[in-house]
Amino acid sequence: MSFPLPRWFAHRGGGSLAPENTLAGIRLAARMGFAAVEFDVMLSGDGTPVLIHDETLERTTNGRGLVGETPDAQLFALDAGDGERIPRYVDAVAACREFGLLANVEIKPATGFERPTAETVARLSAGFWQDARVQPLISSFSLEALEIARDLAPQIPRGVLFERVPADWLATVRRLQAVALHCDAEHVSDDVLAEAQANGIPVLCYTVNTEKAAKSLFERGVSALFTDRLDLFAAETSAYKGLHLGG
Ligand code: G3P
Ligand code: MG
Repeated sequence: MSFPLPRWFAHRGGGSLAPENTLAGIRLAARMGFAAVEFDVMLSGDGTPVLIHDETLERTTNGRGLVGETPDAQLFALDAGDGERIPRYVDAVAACREFGLLANVEIKPATGFERPTAETVARLSAGFWQDARVQPLISSFSLEALEIARDLAPQIPRGVLFERVPADWLATVRRLQAVALHCDAEHVSDDVLAEAQANGIPVLCYTVNTEKAAKSLFERGVSALFTDRLDLFAAETSAYKGLHLGG
């Protein structure tokens, strides 16, 4: 499976223009012409995969406590901003498929829940995208989660996510049979970019919210960027670099 890698990913759904990790955000990204959207997936107290970034509810909703200890009946009654609900993963997938968006599904397990989160996301993803021309891109900071995704849904491309890229990153990419390296734009080095380029591995950097930083990163060889500033970069979203993921 091979597909074009967009230059821009709307970060956490709609970036800073919509409540993060909501369907309103995904819809907005599509309306603004983005070809790809990144969102975070964690398990609820009932084991349902949902879109949310933090392990706790306070920052992004009017709820309190741990996502992983909150039953669905309570979780889905919460306000995630502007009257939006926390979406189920299945609803985010439906939105991405409806709008033709490439989904970067970041597996974001609550601490200690790496295995069940990855198993659930991998199994569901394999089914959701079974007949899809363009597969999603699964990523995670959890190498255990990526290992599980590799074993349960090998056909779905994987990106290895690091805040600071370790010296042995290439061995990790190879072991996980990943197609991309995702990392923090603040810390990416020219050595890593050169090694990635020499090995044909695209580097995707988060989170880039100024034109100056974007220009510099693209010039240095970064392939794609995650942004919260959909307003700044909407005009560039249709430009593909001609790179392909997955061979
Ligand atoms: O996947 C890229 C980026 O989303 C990783 O950081 O904390 O925003 O999930 P975070
Ligand atoms: Mg994320």
